Amino acid sequence: MPDSEPNFVFAARVGEIAREAGARLREFYAQGVETEYKGAADLVTVADRTVEKLIRERLTEAFPTHGIYGEEGTRERLDQEFRWYVDPLDGTTNFAHSVPHFAVSLGLEQRPKGLAEDEDGTLVSAVLYDPMRDELYLAERGRGAYLNGKQLHVSETAKLSESLVATGFPSKKRHESPNIHFYQEFTLRSHGARRMGSAALDLAYVAAGRFESFWEFNLNPWDTAAGILLVEEAGGVVTDFSGQKYRLDSREILASNGKIQAELLTLFADMFAGRNFGAIVSPEEYAKGRT
Ligand code: IPD
Ligand code: CA
Ligand code: CA
Repeated sequence: MPDSEPNFVFAARVGEIAREAGARLREFYAQGVETEYKGAADLVTVADRTVEKLIRERLTEAFPTHGIYGEEGTRERLDQEFRWYVDPLDGTTNFAHSVPHFAVSLGLEQRPKGLAEDEDGTLVSAVLYDPMRDELYLAERGRGAYLNGKQLHVSETAKLSESLVATGFPSKKRHESPNIHFYQEFTLRSHGARRMGSAALDLAYVAAGRFESFWEFNLNPWDTAAGILLVEEAGGVVTDFSGQKYRLDSREILASNGKIQAELLTLFADMFAGRNFGAIVSPEEYAKGRT
């Protein structure tokens, strides 16, 4: 029997907005859209822009005093107590290539009056919708995290060697990211490292106990705000790569079920210090053995 969701203050109403946004994404996906470029490998489509506009309108109707900070340029009422971080389409590269793995992500931050612009408030509400699987993730601070009405708990796995983990790679300044080294190392030390293409869903999957961990460099608050609260409310933890409290403008995110966090932090420290790399055959060495 499904657990019943608590009386969410915002998430239930915004869940309906995310469902409407997701339905628009499914329509665009079915008809096919042209790909435009924001950068060399940074894609955007009419779906990203149209759905951000839809979400902006619906949020403004529902909560006229709330601020909105969206990936596609929305910056409204940012001096208000509540602020929504909106990614209308997380996983644009998948979407543009007809890979059915992407999401709508909406995270709400409460910012007490007088808080400096560079200080974080508290994430209080999370709405994340995977329109191709019809999976709606909702969470509110202190009230738990839910997937289609069923309460979520992070996994119990206590070792990296028994974990499935996930990461992503930036679409800008790709040569400046060291993440391929971490990808290699995590692949050698776990059941596998997935690169699914939606950071928001990667975090939701940690909350759902599907992944034990997710890490990435250089994400933005619209990618992470909803997913962080989902992970925390499902019993997991989110820090930077040194174990410090995660901040919305942090360039590093390390989320996990909590049970493997210490092992992950040790691995990051070792790698940043140049220690403990697993040996792997080079292409030249491999080529010598080819017949
Ligand atoms: C991207 C996805 C991807 C991550 C990139 C993000 P977008 O967001 O979350 O998984 O690796 O860093 O930029 O551009 O599809 O909204
Ligand atoms: Ca994104
Ligand atoms: Ca996006």
